[in-house]
Amino acid sequence: MAEYDFDVLVIGAGPGGYVAAIRAAQLGLKTACAEGRETLGGTCLNVGCIPSKALLHASELFEEAAGGALAKLGVKLGSVELDLDAMHAQRKEAVKGLTGGIEFLFKKNKVEWLKGYAAFTGKDSVKVGDREVRAKNIVIATGSSVTPLPGVEIDQQVVVDSTGALELAKVPEHLVVIGGGVIGLELGSVWRRVGAKVTVVEYLDQILPGFDGDVRKESAKLFKKQGIEFKTGTKVTGVSVSGGKATVTLEPAKGGEAQTIEADNVLVAIGRRPNTDGLNLEAAGLSVNARGQIEVGHEFETGVDGIWAIGDVVPGPMLAHKAEDEGIAVAENIAGLTGIVNHDLIPSVVYTMPEIAGVGLTEEAAKEKGEVKVGKFPMAGNSRAKTNHEPDGFVKIIADAKTDRVLGVWIITSVAGTMIAQATQAMEFGATSEDIAYTCHAHPTHSEAIKEAAMAVTGKPIHI
Ligand code: FAD
Ligand code: NAI
Repeated sequence: MAEYDFDVLVIGAGPGGYVAAIRAAQLGLKTACAEGRETLGGTCLNVGCIPSKALLHASELFEEAAGGALAKLGVKLGSVELDLDAMHAQRKEAVKGLTGGIEFLFKKNKVEWLKGYAAFTGKDSVKVGDREVRAKNIVIATGSSVTPLPGVEIDQQVVVDSTGALELAKVPEHLVVIGGGVIGLELGSVWRRVGAKVTVVEYLDQILPGFDGDVRKESAKLFKKQGIEFKTGTKVTGVSVSGGKATVTLEPAKGGEAQTIEADNVLVAIGRRPNTDGLNLEAAGLSVNARGQIEVGHEFETGVDGIWAIGDVVPGPMLAHKAEDEGIAVAENIAGLTGIVNHDLIPSVVYTMPEIAGVGLTEEAAKEKGEVKVGKFPMAGNSRAKTNHEPDGFVKIIADAKTDRVLGVWIITSVAGTMIAQATQAMEFGATSEDIAYTCHAHPTHSEAIKEAAMAVTGKPIHI
């Protein structure tokens, strides 16, 4: 029996992989992490969560200044100009700082970074560049990349994916976004705020699939008010590029007459698919399911002893915090502890303005399981939101009609992404709506709307 080089080898240094590697090392296991990118942090830190939030934040401030919202508060700025180069520079700075931070954490925790793309050569062996290593445990955390749309070629100049849309050197006059999901709405908002006309083409009848029905309706209303145009129930059948401009051909999803629209840029954002190409899974005796994902059991174990998988490459929502939690859990399971992730309570947040957040069941899904009570409180009744000139949105709580246990919470307001943590924690502890209603919330905060929505479950909020 040959010696192992490592107790744990993690493939991929995204939020799933780098967290798994650090946790495994913290638990005393000799750990390495293979990553082919030039910097650590995966999709999330390099071309996902972080750079998109850097642009969302900056473009939001620009709109507040240029659109007169700051002047209304008594902050007069004179003429406001967009410096897109500076906006991009601060995005790159944010990415550099955070990816460098992971490299520091690897060194601090003695995680060895194997630079290069890994491919299996056996059940416990992997080749990274010229080096072949053996590990007692291998964690696949290779993440995902953009789903291509047949007939639409991404050139990253005119027709871009999310990575290209983060880097546009010029504000497009007209940006057509294919897909009314999270990426389309976040990046569509960025470019609209700095001056682009944005048209979102969505195949389904409504945007934001998977979100609560009320939330989907209200968000569409708010985005339209902000100036985004929607073509729902519509499919793109082709995009042609000529002279640096795109012609997008659309058809009703159910079939019908085609039409064309012109665009300076087209963003393809119709979902993401797992990365397994090039891993040589067959050498390890592994295969993927019909959706290209690696199936795992409750402890993130694959069908092959000693091989585990986490994050976007396994079934479940493709979210950084889900990947991170799985990273901690898999390392703990490898170390003989009990690592658990409650997949029923993974919050989702769309970082637009206002933010849109949810956890647990939608009203529609909860009703399929049994009788429910629903409490809703408008942000227009919340003193802090009103004072901050943010009257849009609401908090909605769905509770079991018999036990009062909270089944789902949905929030639209500026700080919904932060507020949803409270709801998630309450639900993790099995809270009833009454538990939330009788919890003291500081005044004046947006969070008081959660308490009022909980009071509304039994019909007695104070401020409406
Ligand atoms: P990834 O982050 O994709 O990392 C996988 C890594 O593995 C990559 O660095 C890749 O280079 C590497 N790799 C792949 N194959 C190999 C190989 N054979 N050998 C070595 N290395 C390999 N999620 C949120 O929760 N919040 C957000 O705000 C958010 N914003 C997003 C914005 C955008 C524009 C995008 C595209 C995604 C966003 N996401 C967000 C989703 C989030 O980025 C992913 O869910 C998350 O990165 C998944 O983590 P992961 O570790 O599974 O994989
Ligand atoms: P998505 O799954 O959120 O949305 C894709 C949208 O495209 C859906 O509404 C779908 O109906 C539509 N669509 C599919 N095919 C289409 C077609 N041919 N024509 C028109 N519309 C079509 O995927 P998205 O936005 O690409 O994001 C990918 C992943 O990245 C998501 O799973 C998301 O979880 C993650 N992400 C998370 C963020 C966050 O947490 N804030 C931010 C950005 C991405």
